[in-house]
Amino acid sequence: MSETINTAGDHSKSLLIIAHTPSPNTREMAKAVLEGAQNEVIGQVKSKLVSPFDCDHKMVLESDGLILLTTENFGYMSGALKDLFDRVYYPCLAEPTLNDAKPFALIIKAGLDGTGTQASVTKITSGLKWRQVQAATLCKGEFESSFLDKCRHLGLTIAASLDAGII
Ligand SMILES: Cc1cc2nc3c(=O)[nH]c(=O)nc-3n(C[C@H](O)[C@H](O)[C@H](O)COP(=O)(O)O)c2cc1C
Repeated sequence: MSETINTAGDHSKSLLIIAHTPSPNTREMAKAVLEGAQNEVIGQVKSKLVSPFDCDHKMVLESDGLILLTTENFGYMSGALKDLFDRVYYPCLAEPTLNDAKPFALIIKAGLDGTGTQASVTKITSGLKWRQVQAATLCKGEFESSFLDKCRHLGLTIAASLDAGII
């Protein structure tokens, strides 16, 4: 999205991290994403971490970019993220100027798989006309600290890309 002067009168961008975190591991992952996005090298990006349950279409539309973090449940995205999509889908499509080509990235936390989540999020976000700017980050199997590194790195990458105006 090109840089515009926002309602706060400055040139900052906003990154919304929407994370479903039902476990200690996923809470650590969400914190790592935020930590990366708030790295000291980031100049003009304000990042916020929310649960899908506390998010609505206005928050989505007002953001310049999104990072979605979800667990895989029953071979699909979490019910929490699906509930968000159910609520925002048509209200977002009704605001093409703010919605279309919204840049986003996806982190999947799965026990063993993750492919069903990736496919289901791709299908819905294609319908939403959003733009996936990074290959999905898949964290599966036994929890390891590299998951946190990946999350931190993704937060930094997306925030830096918004900051530089390249996504
Ligand atoms: C109800 C339920 C269904 C699940 N279904 C899947 C699944 O279909 N595929 C998969 O890879 N993991 C599945 N999992 C595992 C979750 O993805 C995992 O619990 C989540 O990523 C949190 O992991 P953590 O305990 O390491 O934080 C399921 C977990 C629950 C509670």
